[in-house]
Amino acid sequence: MPSFAQLVDTVDGVDARQLHRDDQVSFHEVSMTYSTGTIALASVSATARRGEFVAIVGPSGCGKSTLLRLAAGLERPSSGSVAVATRSVGFIFQEPTLMPWASVRRNASLLVELAHLPAAERRSRVAAALDAVGLTDFGDQLPKALSGGMRMRVSLARALALEPELMLLDEPFGALDELTRQEMQLQLLGLFDRAGFTALFVTHSVSEAVLLADRVIVMSARPGRVAAEVEIDLPRPREPRLRFAPAYTEKVAQISELLRGVE
Ligand SMILES: Nc1ncnc2c1ncn2[C@@H]1O[C@H](COP(=O)(O)OP(=O)(O)OP(=O)(O)O)[C@@H](O)[C@H]1O
Ligand SMILES: [Mg+2]
Repeated sequence: MPSFAQLVDTVDGVDARQLHRDDQVSFHEVSMTYSTGTIALASVSATARRGEFVAIVGPSGCGKSTLLRLAAGLERPSSGSVAVATRSVGFIFQEPTLMPWASVRRNASLLVELAHLPAAERRSRVAAALDAVGLTDFGDQLPKALSGGMRMRVSLARALALEPELMLLDEPFGALDELTRQEMQLQLLGLFDRAGFTALFVTHSVSEAVLLADRVIVMSARPGRVAAEVEIDLPRPREPRLRFAPAYTEKVAQISELLRGVE
């Protein structure tokens, strides 16, 4: 096993020792100015602990996607530092971005094919991931034969097959109808309970954030800053009927109020 320090991937020269042992991702005074001059983030400091589900909410354009791209190493901060304690990262975009000519199984295999694993291991991981999202029977179908929710599940399976320690999700359910969205939320809750990854989950839906997360980061309008952090100390596993519990609706009201203050 590589040591913890070897696993730590750092950006902008941050000292790995700055990352607390329990931290999976740490943003330290991160500012981001794009080449166009847009200041997307201004001195954002935030952390996700290992195994924690962190939701990020905030007005459009406040830098939520930028934060995820920084965590994935797809961007570098203009100043400050981003430290990620693993190279095992799955990224789920708002659009499922499937290859239309490839089967569901092939699409779900795409990322794991880059991971230099033995073929048998790859196949068993993809089979397990398709099973986890309930698509075993659709492995041979093309994406066009699937509903929107099913396509999003292929995208989830593609990331799950990597067995990532860190899952970055950028409004994954934004394009789905309300019922499918609720189904997907429950499916993600189950996957999170079983697989035990760390999640950074961007959403515009406060109720979704409260249902899924251990902690919600509320960002202010551009340039994005952390306006507030709210612990969601609701027990797991979380059940659908939680949506009707007073403790849940109180958190939704509290965060909605915070959001009204920053927009
Ligand atoms: N590649 C880029 N080049 C220039 N500016 C960018 C780029 N990506 C994002 N921006 C700008 O940075 C700001 C933050 O963008 P970002 O996509 O991170 O916001 P967001 O919070 O995810 O918004 P939304 O909720 O609408 O998805 C916006 O003003 C956007 O125009
Ligand atoms: Mg975005």
